[in-house]
Amino acid sequence: MDYLVLILYLYLLWGLFHALSFVADRGRRVRPSKLPPGPRPLPIIGNLLELGDLPHKSLAKLAHTYGPIIKLELGFVTTVVVSSPMLAKEILQTHDAVFSNRIIPHCVTAHDHDKLGLPWVPVSPLFRNLRKIYNLHIFSSKKLDLNQHLRGKKVQELVAFVRKCANAGEAVNIGEAAFRASLNAITNTVFSLDMMEPSNPAGELKEVVWQIMIEVGKPNLADYFPVLKKIDPQGSKRRLEVHIQKLLNFFDDVIQRRLQLRTENGSVNCNDVLDNLLDVVEDKNETLDISLVKHLFLDIFVAGGETTSSTLEWAMTELLRNPEKLSRTQAELHQVIGKGKKIGEADISRLPYLQAVLKETFRLHPVVPLLLPRTSGEDFVIGGFTIPKGAQVLINVFAMGRDPSIWDDPDKFLPERFLGSDIDVRGQNFELVPFGGGRRICPGLPLAMRMLPLMLGSLINIFNWKLEDGVILENMNMEDKFGITVQRAQSLKAVPIPI
Ligand code: HEM
Repeated sequence: MDYLVLILYLYLLWGLFHALSFVADRGRRVRPSKLPPGPRPLPIIGNLLELGDLPHKSLAKLAHTYGPIIKLELGFVTTVVVSSPMLAKEILQTHDAVFSNRIIPHCVTAHDHDKLGLPWVPVSPLFRNLRKIYNLHIFSSKKLDLNQHLRGKKVQELVAFVRKCANAGEAVNIGEAAFRASLNAITNTVFSLDMMEPSNPAGELKEVVWQIMIEVGKPNLADYFPVLKKIDPQGSKRRLEVHIQKLLNFFDDVIQRRLQLRTENGSVNCNDVLDNLLDVVEDKNETLDISLVKHLFLDIFVAGGETTSSTLEWAMTELLRNPEKLSRTQAELHQVIGKGKKIGEADISRLPYLQAVLKETFRLHPVVPLLLPRTSGEDFVIGGFTIPKGAQVLINVFAMGRDPSIWDDPDKFLPERFLGSDIDVRGQNFELVPFGGGRRICPGLPLAMRMLPLMLGSLINIFNWKLEDGVILENMNMEDKFGITVQRAQSLKAVPIPI
């Protein structure tokens, strides 16, 4: 019934809107422009129904019909979706000054996160300052080299946990174990603490983070019908307020304890990101305050843990489904590192097949399949079509990864395709841009590209794996579920056997 009232309400608004635009249009110059093709929108809701539960897949199908640049009306938001490397390059690199700002999902206005968090702030002095802080104080090669022992330690803890499961003959929930390791590596680098302690089970915090990803990623009526923002009809913003508050409280506690320690002990320094950032705050030379630090941690926490662990879970899934590829990856590890031995970050460059496995995983399962939404700063012609000012612009990385005109046998897991190829994921090869590109490229890329080979390599160099009882290769569930990242619909559980 509520739903019916809402639809009636929307139809009334639509009528009003059209009456007003008719009056306004009478005096307006008609702009000659060719908009991208796309499915015919329905009144009011436009093409919303076309998105379905897995928008990246629905949009890939639409690209088959209409081509590499399509336009949809999602409620009142004109959306352009690009699915070709050439056009992606135009948006992410060639004209990135026009397309660098984001469309802000209504829910991320919770706790003013849209004004304080790097993924959402517009290109501005604050944006440049935050990017500088990420690149200089957190993810520079120098900083990452200095704290690589922390990540090594966390991977060893992951191995110890898996060994315990192996001894007990128990299956490991790969995504959850990887999430704990990724997040602990990040939080140790950032504030010398384990986030995932036994008293703070991975499942619970993973749930908070996953809920945040779901809220930000799932279609929200308030985003498509701005008039509904005040009502927040699906309650997304209200729920996000609660989830974010939980994390902000945790960060506040950590920061207050550290500030107290610094007051008590004078020059004490843990040499972690928190100390560096508190130095910057005290220095007052750059625009950084405690509130920004908390929101920065929130982004690192949310953007860093889930993306990395979901990618690892997909990589393990593909290796278990393709035993000959698993054997080949293990053979390389046994030869270069030694069977059952520890892997260090310095070894990664000597493991081309392991790197190829990860690239192939990014191609088939980009965990942020539509990147983060951009918006067009002006009417701009791309590929012969006008992208209107203010339109939402999505890059369908998933569609490009499965495009048979770009990749042979696109649905097959063939890491070999990357051996001897220059194609990399660092934002220069637009057929494979799982981290985005241009000035908004993912700043966590250097960390993810250290963590992933380290974790995946360790899991398969030290253990053999078999699927849980009752699961057979051919029947493995390969479905996605969509938040802002794509996770496996069914968690991968596999039984480790020490090598
Ligand atoms: C497998 C791992 C990861 C993937 C696939 C991934 C992917 C992405 C993508 C696609 C974007 C949007 C880029 C664009 O609009 O062009 C992004 C942005 C971002 N990522 Fe990542 N990411 C990963 C790991 C991380 C990690 C480890 C961190 C931090 C610890 C991180 C922090 C961020 C932040 C802060 C942004 C916003 C940047 C901006 O808007 O300027 N990500 N990421």
